Amino acid sequence: MEFRALLLLTLLGFMLVEPGFGQRADMDFNEWMTANQEFIKNLEVNLKNVEQCKTDVEALDARLNATVDELERQKIAFSASLANSGEIYSGPSTDKTLVFKRVFSNIGNGYSANSGIFTAPVNGLYYFSFSTYGYNTHTMGAMLMKNSVRQISTYESPTADGSDSSSNAAVLQLAVGDNVHVELWDDGRVYDNLNGHTTFSGFLLFPL
Ligand SMILES: *[C@@H]1O[C@H](CO)[C@@H](O)[C@H](O)[C@H]1NC(C)=O
Repeated sequence: MEFRALLLLTLLGFMLVEPGFGQRADMDFNEWMTANQEFIKNLEVNLKNVEQCKTDVEALDARLNATVDELERQKIAFSASLANSGEIYSGPSTDKTLVFKRVFSNIGNGYSANSGIFTAPVNGLYYFSFSTYGYNTHTMGAMLMKNSVRQISTYESPTADGSDSSSNAAVLQLAVGDNVHVELWDDGRVYDNLNGHTTFSGFLLFPL
């Protein structure tokens, strides 16, 4: 028993006086750190680069999303003809606005088939065209109006040549909320059926 106790005490004494004992793992780690200083430095730099890349990608993602949203907003086009069934003689009337009822397309919902009015959803340059058809009993034709101001027109006086067709087009610069519609001349009349003789179309060329 006494011998065993002595051995234990000796061992304990050795462990206490030996400076490196118990710290060997730490020393190895420190040595390794020193030996690989450059590697560690590169690792830190690379980690910083990766973090910067992540931030950059997030910023790009946000810009991409904003661009996609913007492009969606810029899809604006419509096309419609006057009659969506049977035959329509429009005019003469006091409300001279032509309401094109047969809507072929209306991307961006700028055109209203209830009012016949196109309202610009974004600032930009827009292309409009319209065509009118009618008989010689009345003035045949219409005017393209921007904010109720006449821009261009079609016109046939009531002469003895049966029926007439006429069309016109313009590129207009519009601000958000500006409106464009087609309206009859005083005492004017146009005709349409499902052959689509009398039409109104427009689209955004590009935003400004
Ligand atoms: C971009 O849009 C995608 C898909 O809708 C979404 O998952 C992502 O979180 C958006 N990014 C940002 C930065 O808003």
